[in-house]
Amino acid sequence: MAPRRPLIAGNWKMIASSRHGLALAAELAARAKGAGAMKCDMLLCPPATLIRQVSEAVAGSGLAVGGQDCHAAPGGAHTGDVSAVLLAEAGCSFVIVGHSERRRDHDETSEMVRDKAAAARAAGLTPIICVGESEAERDAGETLAVVRSQLEGSLPEDAAGADTAIAYEPVWAIGTARTPTGAEIAEVHGHIRHRLAAVMGEEAQRTRILYGGSVTSGNASEILATAEVDGVLVGTASLEADAFWRIGESCP
Ligand code: PGA
Repeated sequence: MAPRRPLIAGNWKMIASSRHGLALAAELAARAKGAGAMKCDMLLCPPATLIRQVSEAVAGSGLAVGGQDCHAAPGGAHTGDVSAVLLAEAGCSFVIVGHSERRRDHDETSEMVRDKAAAARAAGLTPIICVGESEAERDAGETLAVVRSQLEGSLPEDAAGADTAIAYEPVWAIGTARTPTGAEIAEVHGHIRHRLAAVMGEEAQRTRILYGGSVTSGNASEILATAEVDGVLVGTASLEADAFWRIGESCP
């Protein structure tokens, strides 16, 4: 089976201005066009209002565009929501689902996340399903149990191989400049791979498992060299073109 190609995903969250986002996209597109063959896939996830413009800005650069969330329904009376179909039409090929900030701010359950991931796949998008324990859960020794329960609850029944990605994001590591040790990341990623294999068999070898939480250009090489880490989901450091680009260059 072909080795998994690393995926470097930038989660812009609610970036403070469109101007910043469009400048970032233009700068990264220019770098990608000037670079030779890349060792990884690079993905930008802007807020919904910027997706189409960012898609146009990065066209032909090899950079991919993704959403940060989608509704589980393909359409209908859901004021304020965006469907996976609309994301795909606007230029997305990925969508993040179940980010801990959505689970927290919008009371999203794993069941809701699973339905969103299924909608994403139905629209031809690759969902990046986020899971991760809180600090209290880690302190209580519940990390693997929490991750397993979120993973099994959030994974669509027919998810298979490369058409789904997982992001392990410990809640306490997001935006805090704290990261788990390499051994801790490897343990959780190994557990995720094991659980994926129990559900989808051999296909699990094709699923990319990303790490997210305080990834920087300083720690990316070490994290990306960790066993079972197939990429990173980057928040803060993805808002600076040079830092994000250097994370991409850190791929083994
Ligand atoms: P961070 O965010 O890189 O700022 O910690 C990561 C994320 O929430 O995806």
